[in-house]
Order: sequence, then C-alpha cells, then structure tokens
Amino acid sequence: MAPSIALARKWRPKSFTQMVGQEHVVRALNNAIESGRLHHAYLFTGTRGVGKTTLARILAKCFNCQTGLTAQPCGQCESCLSIDRGRNPDLIEVDAATNTRVEEMRELLDNAQYMPVSARYKVYIIDEVHMLSRSAFNSMLKTLEEPPEHVKFILATTDPQKVPITVLSRCLQFNLKQMRPDQIAGHLAHVLEEESIPFEEAALTLIGRAAQGSMRDSLSLLDQAIAYGASSVKETQVADMLGVISEDYLYQLLEALKNQDAFSLVTIAQSMADRSLSFTQALEDLARLIHDITLLKATNTAKEALGLSDSLIPFTHHWDPKTLQLFYQIIIQARQDIALSPDELSGFRMALLRMLAFVVNEEKPSRVETTLESTELKKKQLNNDKDVVPETKPPHAVSGHIPPSLAHWSELVDQLSGSGMAYELARQCQLKEFHAGQLHLIIDPSQKILVPYQDRLQSALEALLDMDIRLTIELIKSDGVTPAQIEEKNQQEALLAAKKALETDPVVRSILDEYGGKLIESSIKPVTDNS
Ligand SMILES: Nc1ncnc2c1ncn2[C@@H]1O[C@H](COP(=O)(O)OP(=O)(O)O)[C@@H](O)[C@H]1O
Ligand SMILES: [Mg+2]
Ligand SMILES: [Zn+2]
Repeated sequence: MAPSIALARKWRPKSFTQMVGQEHVVRALNNAIESGRLHHAYLFTGTRGVGKTTLARILAKCFNCQTGLTAQPCGQCESCLSIDRGRNPDLIEVDAATNTRVEEMRELLDNAQYMPVSARYKVYIIDEVHMLSRSAFNSMLKTLEEPPEHVKFILATTDPQKVPITVLSRCLQFNLKQMRPDQIAGHLAHVLEEESIPFEEAALTLIGRAAQGSMRDSLSLLDQAIAYGASSVKETQVADMLGVISEDYLYQLLEALKNQDAFSLVTIAQSMADRSLSFTQALEDLARLIHDITLLKATNTAKEALGLSDSLIPFTHHWDPKTLQLFYQIIIQARQDIALSPDELSGFRMALLRMLAFVVNEEKPSRVETTLESTELKKKQLNNDKDVVPETKPPHAVSGHIPPSLAHWSELVDQLSGSGMAYELARQCQLKEFHAGQLHLIIDPSQKILVPYQDRLQSALEALLDMDIRLTIELIKSDGVTPAQIEEKNQQEALLAAKKALETDPVVRSILDEYGGKLIESSIKPVTDNS
C-alpha cells in the first residue's frame, strides 16, 4: 500500500542516531551538550535536503527536553512531543525565504527578551537566514551581541556567502555534507523494508544518483516511484520514470567492448533504440562509468570514498589508463557530435565502434613491453651501466636520404601539434619553397578536404615563427614526402628494430627456444620516448 503521507516528512529523523551521515556534526553537537558547553547561536549550512532543519529540531529538543539538557532527548515528554508536532510555544520557527515582511520578523526577534513560556530556552530556528532583510538582520544582531541567558538561535542556510560576517562570526558553524548515492540507496532500502514495499536494489541506485546529494529529493522520488510502480520499486520502471538508462544496458555495452564484440554493441544499441532510450543520456552514463573505472584503477581508495560499485572492478583490469582516457574523450566528443549525426542511433553506434577501433586490450601489448623492458634491465645489469640507450628506440632524427629542408619542415610541423586541424593540414603538406615570408606548400588532391584550414595554418605558423607569412597551397600529385609519411616510415623502422632486437636478444631467444614459443608480430610495440 502506498504511504499516505510524504515519505520525507514521515521519515524525518527524531534523534541524532537516526541521522544518515553528517557524523562530524552529530559528534560535535553530542560532545558539546554532554559537556554542558552550550553556545547561544548555531548555524547549519548545506544544500537542500541534507538535514539542516532536522538537526535544528533535534537540537531544540536537546535544549528543552523535560528530562534535562541531553544529547538523547526522550521523545516522550510534552516538550519533545510538541516540538516533533511543530506546536511548541517556545520554539519559534521562521522561514526567512517566505517570511519577508520586515515588521513581522522584527517583532519576533524583539520578543526574544521575554522569558520562555514553559521550557528552559526560547529557541529560534531561522531557515534560509540569508534571506532576512537588512533591518531584520540588525535586530537579530542586537540580540546576538548581548544574548539573554534564555535564548538560543539555530540558523540554517543554503547560501552562507550571503549571511553578513557580523552574524557569521557570532555563530558556531557546521557544514552539512551532500548525501552520497550509496548512503541514499541504503536509507531508502531501510525505509522500504519498514514500509513493507518490495524493491530492487538497482532501482534505489538510480534514485540515489538522481537525487544529487539530497535525501529529501530522494524520498520524494521514492514516493513517485511507488506510485508509478503500483507499490513496488523496480529498476526498469524507475529508469523509465527518471528517463535514465538501466545499468544493465551500460554493463552489457562495457562487456561487449571488453570482448571486442562489434555485433553485440550494435545489437544492444538497437534494442536501446527500440525502447526509445535517450542516447545523449546513455553517453553521459557511459562517460560516468568510464570515469569511475579510471578512478578505481588509479586509486584503490576511490571505491570507499566515492561509493563506487564493486561490479566495475573486473573492468579495471581490462583497459590501460590511456585507453580509458581515449574512451572518455570519444564519449564526451560524441555527446557534442550527436546533434550533427544523421540520427541519435547512428551517432551512438559510431561512438561505440570508434571506441572499439581504438581498443587495446592491456594484456597483449603489455606482455611484450614487459619482455622488452626486462631484457633491457638484464643488459643494464650485465653492463653494470645505468644509462644504456636501448637500440630498440626508434631513430628520432629523420634519415639522411630526405632533403634537409624537408626535415626542417617536419620539425616545424611537430611544433604545431597543439593546433588541431592546422596541424593535420601541415602534416599532409610537402614543402616546396619558403622564401621571404612566402611559403609554398604542396598537397595531394586526395587530402583536399584539409585545404579549408589554410587560414588557420597560416595564423598558427605566423604565431610560431613570429613573422608575417603568405601561404599558398597547391593541389598536385607529387612524389615527395610529407611529415605524415615520415612519421609512418619512422614508426615502421622502429617496429622493425624492435622486432629485430627481440629476436636476437639472448633472453628472449632462450625463452623461445626453451618453451617453443613464437613471437606474435602484431603485438610488438616499440618503446618510444613518449610512451
Ligand atoms: N541526514 C539525513 N538523514 C536522514 N534523513 C534525512 C537527512 N537529511 C534529510 N533527510 C530527509 O529529508 C527531509 C528533509 O530534510 P531537512 O532536514 O528539512 O533538509 P534541509 O533543511 O537540509 O533542506 C527529512 O524530513 C528527512 O526525511
Ligand atoms: Mg530546511
Ligand atoms: Zn523529552
């Protein structure tokens, strides 16, 4: 049965122990009360729905419980009960956001001088205190400066920056934290168990995330989910309700990516389209997962600190950090590009396939790299030399048979590597002539798509060389060599050198001989300076 009153109200914690999170605040308040060190003004700050008002009311009970000043108010006495019901004559609760009438606020505050009706203290809870008018602040300040023994102020605000420093400096300030998704999901599970409403944990994870740190929002979403799901809380229904993608799909996608299974990727994307899921949302969710995997891989404390899911751990072993960075870039870029793609499904599919095209499973190449590295280590030890330059490094200088001027052009182009399409264009060009600011380049007609970036290249070169340049680019088929071709040639040479080094290396040789091994050529990767 759906609960008849809003869950957020019904489940407002009535004691410190029922609070979720905010341990730092609860501990400090507990200690202060137990040791009788009371302040006359408290300020709770934090975003909405994290427990400011709740804590303020619990604190009011601590001050006024008839069992005496206590960190564990009884909840049974007249004072506690009437505070819980919001009908206690000595608790004056004002919402400064709605109560903007100046005279009214001033009158309330001026009344502070009179004794409480029945309790120990007259307690003022002023919510959204930053909204008070200047004159209201002034009359509050008068009381704050010379507080009568019987008055306690508990202020709360989402925007402490707007509270005058004169007020701030007279309050004991506590910053409440946003709720983590796992804290929220855990609390919702508890609430649902108590309410005897069946649920799927994954549904609560979705709500936990959607609530963006607010416990109140999560409980309102839960109300909606219960209504939507006719008194049960299921993942697919909550996903529909929130317009989010169920984790199932995302994990299936990661799994397919891991298995380098293009067919599955395309099929999953299709079934998402069949359910009219938002691909923009899917990209956002994927980016988050890749982010989480990267973080998990980078630091093993991230899981606890950020409440990351265990189910991501298997993926952390699968891709190296660079691949993960690349995935992230591809996804983020795809989110921008999706508007330009023929339709959302195509845009999404292309992003998936692009990731697949870049996938480097960590195991294969790293094994060869390790071999290479340990081989070098061995050599170093043999030679007792720390700075052996391994022969396997690719020759970085351009080989002798390339004209010097062209080698120079290539170096120049290298320095443009930060300038996007201008760099791409430059890489595909051959230098014909450079004289008195006149730069004449040649590009193969097959690359003419790059020519529109000519202006950008000209500016980039002008900035680099700090001189005026007149750039002309001629579209002709030529037999010359471009920086792009040089780079490719260098890479091939480096690969050959690496292969040769591996084959002739005594350690590798002995492994191959002893175990009847075979070098997998496609897995050899030269170790370069920047890898
Ligand atoms: N830390 C918390 N632990 C448990 N429930 C919370 C917590 N913070 C907020 N809530 C839930 O959200 C509702 C609103 O909280 P409230 O204290 O009024 O938030 P705030 O004043 O910070 O906006 C509460 O009634 C309670 O159900
Ligand atoms: Mg509040
Ligand atoms: Zn009591």
